[in-house]
Amino acid sequence: MKSGDRVDLGQGHEMEFVSAPNLHWPDTIFSYDRKTQTLFTCDAFGMHYCSDSTFDDDLEAIEADFRFYYDCLMGPNARSLLNAMKKMGELGNIKVIANGHGPLLYHNLEILRECYQNWSQKQAKAETVVGVFCASDYGYSDRLAAAIAQGVQKTGVAVEIMDVNTADSQEIQELAHRAAGIIIGMPPSANITAQAAISSLLGVVKDKQSIGLFESYGSDEEPIDSLRTKFIDLGVKEAFPPVRIKETPSAATYQLLEEAGTDMGQLLVRERNIKQIKSLDVNMEKALGRISNGLYIITTKKGDINGAMLASWVSQASLQPLGLTVAVAKDRAIDSLMQEGDRFVLNVLEEGNYQELKKHFLKRLHPGADRFAGVNTQTAKNDCPILTDALAYMECEVVSSIECSDHWILYCTVSEGKVSKPNSLTAVRHRKVGNYY
Ligand SMILES: Cc1cc2nc3c(=O)[nH]c(=O)nc-3n(C[C@H](O)[C@H](O)[C@H](O)COP(=O)(O)O)c2cc1C
Repeated sequence: MKSGDRVDLGQGHEMEFVSAPNLHWPDTIFSYDRKTQTLFTCDAFGMHYCSDSTFDDDLEAIEADFRFYYDCLMGPNARSLLNAMKKMGELGNIKVIANGHGPLLYHNLEILRECYQNWSQKQAKAETVVGVFCASDYGYSDRLAAAIAQGVQKTGVAVEIMDVNTADSQEIQELAHRAAGIIIGMPPSANITAQAAISSLLGVVKDKQSIGLFESYGSDEEPIDSLRTKFIDLGVKEAFPPVRIKETPSAATYQLLEEAGTDMGQLLVRERNIKQIKSLDVNMEKALGRISNGLYIITTKKGDINGAMLASWVSQASLQPLGLTVAVAKDRAIDSLMQEGDRFVLNVLEEGNYQELKKHFLKRLHPGADRFAGVNTQTAKNDCPILTDALAYMECEVVSSIECSDHWILYCTVSEGKVSKPNSLTAVRHRKVGNYY
């Protein structure tokens, strides 16, 4: 379905579709039944609240949950909400909002809509945004854009996806002007409207912005290269090298794009994070630095995607079953391979003999690059790589997770393990300050 499409359900109920992207999912779409003036909003306007009432008759009872849900799931995309609410205004009268979670909004609809409007306006002012521009009717570009958007959002940066086939040039230029980062999914050269829309971006780009390009078709003339040169000539920073997808996208392709999105998000938040770290209390920072841990490399494999990360925030957490916790920052590339039920290997580094491995796994690689090139590995029973040169390894499974501000604490059980050098010690990380690992 596309914005504006309609489906006749009979008996006067004609569903009208309104694209409202990024409201928890990149491809959210609202549907409106004009006969009953009911708008079906998927996640938007929802709440995790359950009672016997079908409707929102008790405003006081639902207020806190309505706000909490907004803050967690909707607030990060405040600008997209404002766009969606503008489109709702154009639909005409809405009597009921039938959302995917919680009571139907009817008795207090005006108040609750106003809350969303006010919260979003406030939030949108302070927001760092990445604009993703692509021609959504071409091949896999929708799903590719969604993957890249997910990667950006992991860093806490908001994303707006714009379809260059249907958006007018003013809308495109407004977003390109406001966004801190611009990602373009190149339309094929035969799509003249979309190509022209992309060219119009160049007129508003500023040298403080960052850029990333991808293309999802095989073509001999590479319009992506000439566009890239133009952006670089304008002085913008390139967040990741152009991604060229010549074959049907696989899970590895989507992972690569997600990582590319995360690279852009990290580039945009780096300066803000450095400022926050500098403002910490110095004594407290030093005291926290006295917490010491070992040094480990986490290695994973899921289908044809693999990942690895140097970690020191690892701790034993249970005896029966044997279990441990790992703290993984929310914007780590490995995050999508460390979900509940996923398996990995925890490799323990050896005191006095870990620099090579540490250096190797801290190297910044381009999205999609093989993290294990040039490293000796064996395959564990759980299919993940074991680092042959590590002191010991454990085969683990993620059982549950707790959200702790900027990290996930993963509780994991251990099923197998072996020490390869019984007389050696674990490498320990001694720090002076606690504002980094
Ligand atoms: C000594 C040291 C210990 C680290 N420990 C952790 C950790 O426990 N958890 C974590 O999320 N990142 C940790 N990091 C950061 C990641 O290893 C590193 O930034 C990451 O591999 C980069 O991957 P990315 O592409 O996902 O950002 C540590 C870094 C260093 C230098």
